[in-house]
Amino acid sequence: LNIERGGLYLDATLGRGGHTRLILQSYSDVKVLAIDRDEDALTGTQAALTEDERARLVLWRGNFADYDGEDGQFNGIIADLGVSSPQLDQSDRGFSFRQEAPLDMRMDQSQSFNAADIINHWEEKELADLFYNYGEERLSRRIAKQIVQKRPFYSTTQLAETVYHCAPPSYRHGKIHPATRVFQALRLMVNQELESLDKFLEIAPRWLKVGGRIAIISFHSLEDRRVKYGFREHPLLSVVTKKPLIPGEDEQKSNPRSRSAKLRIAQRIDI
Ligand SMILES: C[S@@+](CC[C@H](N)C(=O)[O-])C[C@H]1O[C@@H](n2cnc3c(N)ncnc32)[C@H](O)[C@@H]1O
Repeated sequence: LNIERGGLYLDATLGRGGHTRLILQSYSDVKVLAIDRDEDALTGTQAALTEDERARLVLWRGNFADYDGEDGQFNGIIADLGVSSPQLDQSDRGFSFRQEAPLDMRMDQSQSFNAADIINHWEEKELADLFYNYGEERLSRRIAKQIVQKRPFYSTTQLAETVYHCAPPSYRHGKIHPATRVFQALRLMVNQELESLDKFLEIAPRWLKVGGRIAIISFHSLEDRRVKYGFREHPLLSVVTKKPLIPGEDEQKSNPRSRSAKLRIAQRIDI
């Protein structure tokens, strides 16, 4: 981000505040505006900061795609997409197929639409299209058919087991659990993640000062493709990273969840 003294930075995905804290610690007069749509992230992170850090931080709760930034407001912007570790690990949030939980998956707990609404009420074809388009799932039709036959579903593990039994043995013993793509698709739809990213990519570059950088970390190809072309085609941006930056072996070992992360950076140009 090329953090500058006295700069104002936007962390569009606060989570546990790792990025916000590092930005605040880079200079004693740097300020951050941090966004998250998850109330727990805002309250939890604020409590973990020092008094001095809190004094230089403003929080905004909501979808980053709905933030109404001003032209040239920020010296830099970072977004670290997807779910946070606390969201994945807190079993009652329903993001993980490894822990039994209600089919929820809402990042914003004030929203009513959740994963159970999709699984228990969508038509078979709509489910198949969702798994194919948002999960890149080859077995989308077979899985959708089984779900419609076996519903209602109440828990994550009940759904994961049904998807598992749809998969041929070769798929069951592959690198990822057979339910991974279905869970990704549901999460993306419940939280409108791709639509939010598209809007953010269109509007956020305008909030940068000339020379300011926008850095986005994505975790799967549907997101990375959007970031790559969003940066490349935006009239206000020049791409800094021709190829995405990825974690090295050491980082992947110490933080296995970084495995699929891709970081792309672009800079606002003067036009
Ligand atoms: C991968 S985590 C960020 C982790 C963070 N960088 C840290 O150091 O802890 C993503 C966070 O962004 C939030 N989030 C995802 N999409 C969002 C959106 N469209 N608007 C606002 N917050 C979003 C999630 O609720 C989650 O807390």
